[in-house]
Amino acid sequence: MLIAIPCAWSAASTLILLVYAFVLTSDWTNSLRALDLGCGTGAAAVRLARLGIHVTLLDSSATMLALAERTIVEAGGSDKITAKRGDAAQLADIFQTGSFDIFLCHNPLEYVDDPGAVLRGAERVMRDSSAILSVLAPNHAGEVLKAVLQAGDLAAAEHNLTAERGPESLYGGRVLLFTSEAREAILKDASLTINARRGVRVIADYLPAQISRSAGYERIFVLERNLGERREFFGVARFIHCLASCATPGSEGDE
Ligand SMILES: C[S@@+](CC[C@H](N)C(=O)[O-])C[C@H]1O[C@@H](n2cnc3c(N)ncnc32)[C@H](O)[C@@H]1O
Repeated sequence: MLIAIPCAWSAASTLILLVYAFVLTSDWTNSLRALDLGCGTGAAAVRLARLGIHVTLLDSSATMLALAERTIVEAGGSDKITAKRGDAAQLADIFQTGSFDIFLCHNPLEYVDDPGAVLRGAERVMRDSSAILSVLAPNHAGEVLKAVLQAGDLAAAEHNLTAERGPESLYGGRVLLFTSEAREAILKDASLTINARRGVRVIADYLPAQISRSAGYERIFVLERNLGERREFFGVARFIHCLASCATPGSEGDE
């Protein structure tokens, strides 16, 4: 269950910085609406609500929603957060077209049958071309590297080279992995333009024992942020974080 938190560490902080910029240049902070799809523990929602943003949580798991409710209560409660149980595949049925200014999609895509359909639903419920979509998803190349560096398992690395799915530690089972081509294609097919991309957890999972994660947290974090934005490193990160917006006619993303 705790896997959700480190996945989001760098993506969430990038998003919060971005949202701060958005909020500071906005006269209508209190009317901004965010959707947190696959909300997990609800930690990101609490941070957004503290900025004055109305946040709707959508998750298919009653257990995760209960966990999110607990996070919200422990953070002092918030009348800006609403939780709903529902499936990512049903976005366009659950919400009205153009409902959200900010759409968090941090690690639910790997669990669904048709990630492209979820993103097409996301595009429909985003307000307009000023809305931000923040997508975090597992990176295929990172799974190959992890098998060697973390487990020393050459056979698993060879297998992962062509595997569509990798092991998952939240519910067990296997989840979808996204190659850079697949990731870019599903966003583009959903009429979404990627405005920025970065790697998350480039080295954090492979630190030798002599590095203390708690004592070295700040330095690891800064190094992660540096590596995560450099193309030669982010291609092997465990996760890729993209910020996207609804494509304007004829746009092709930034590559
Ligand atoms: C790995 S957790 C990510 C949690 C959180 N977004 C984060 O980054 O910390 C994945 C979440 O997606 C939810 N989820 C999985 N399949 C879903 C679906 N089809 N519809 C809605 N939520 C789903 C799970 O219940 C879980 O809360």
